[in-house]
Amino acid sequence: MSEIQNIQWFPGHMTKTKRKIQASLKLVDAVVEILDARIPISSRNPDIASLIQNKPRVVLLNKCDMADKISNQKWIDHLKKSNISAIAVDCKSGKGINKFVPTLNNVLSNKLNSLKNKGMINPILRIMIVGIPNVGKSSFINKIAKQTKAKVEDRPGVTRGNQWYTISKNFELLDTPGVLWPKFDDQTTAEHLAFTGAIKDQIMDVEQLAMRLIEVLSEIKPQKFMERFKLTDDILVNSENSYETLKFIGKKRGMLISGGEIDTERAATMILDEFRAAKLGEITLELPEKE
Ligand code: G4P
Repeated sequence: MSEIQNIQWFPGHMTKTKRKIQASLKLVDAVVEILDARIPISSRNPDIASLIQNKPRVVLLNKCDMADKISNQKWIDHLKKSNISAIAVDCKSGKGINKFVPTLNNVLSNKLNSLKNKGMINPILRIMIVGIPNVGKSSFINKIAKQTKAKVEDRPGVTRGNQWYTISKNFELLDTPGVLWPKFDDQTTAEHLAFTGAIKDQIMDVEQLAMRLIEVLSEIKPQKFMERFKLTDDILVNSENSYETLKFIGKKRGMLISGGEIDTERAATMILDEFRAAKLGEITLELPEKE
């Protein structure tokens, strides 16, 4: 797994990104932080709080269709304790997106009211999206834009080049999301990002990764894992290591190469693909208790 840890963002790249986000933050009244509902800890940027300071924030637990429903609610409740409003969304189907504008209204109600009290009839507040690569930023923009027939307009007076989507009567969304970097400060984080596909496969050993996934799933979801790959209890329990389980699954799926050997690389890719496509069911890898 050492290869995973090597894909750090370069410090120069991070500084540039940080500056860009800080510049955009000056233009907005609130931030929408998108997390992967399956791994809300690993998909969060550790610097987010210091980066956005006191800006009001809404957290989207995206890809909630692939995460466990009870865990989604646990996360929403957990974040609420820290005064953070979170909603579970599926930006692929659009499920849960209808809660976004009401939540934003709630988070920004003080500001909207005070502007109204000052005589501004229909104040417009602006928001921006932040999140790590692949977490669903563009999918969210597409959904919210479609739902509200977003109008893109240039505002050269504000900042040349910035465009805003109108997402409701009171809100506009900056069209360029802030791309945050994930943290790789421990093995579990790196693995969870890799399991969910946040990190590309070409830069890691797929067999090693699939073996780790086998170990994790055997521990947290043994039933779902056994059902999907038609394993029996004794195979899982008696396997001396996850490589044996990987070979067994490869054989079961008929993944052989010449000479009758098992194509473990193909089997590894298949296991990872099936996990990422939620074919093993809805699985959350990180719960609030872990924080
Ligand atoms: P980004 O802008 O943050 O980099 O992420 P993007 O929206 O491109 O989404 C990354 C991938 O995650 C896409 O899949 C997208 O369809 C998928 N995705 C985003 N939100 C959700 C969600 O709520 N549920 C599920 N199941 N998937 C989601 P892709 O394989 O790259 O493309 P495609 O499958 O759309 O062709």
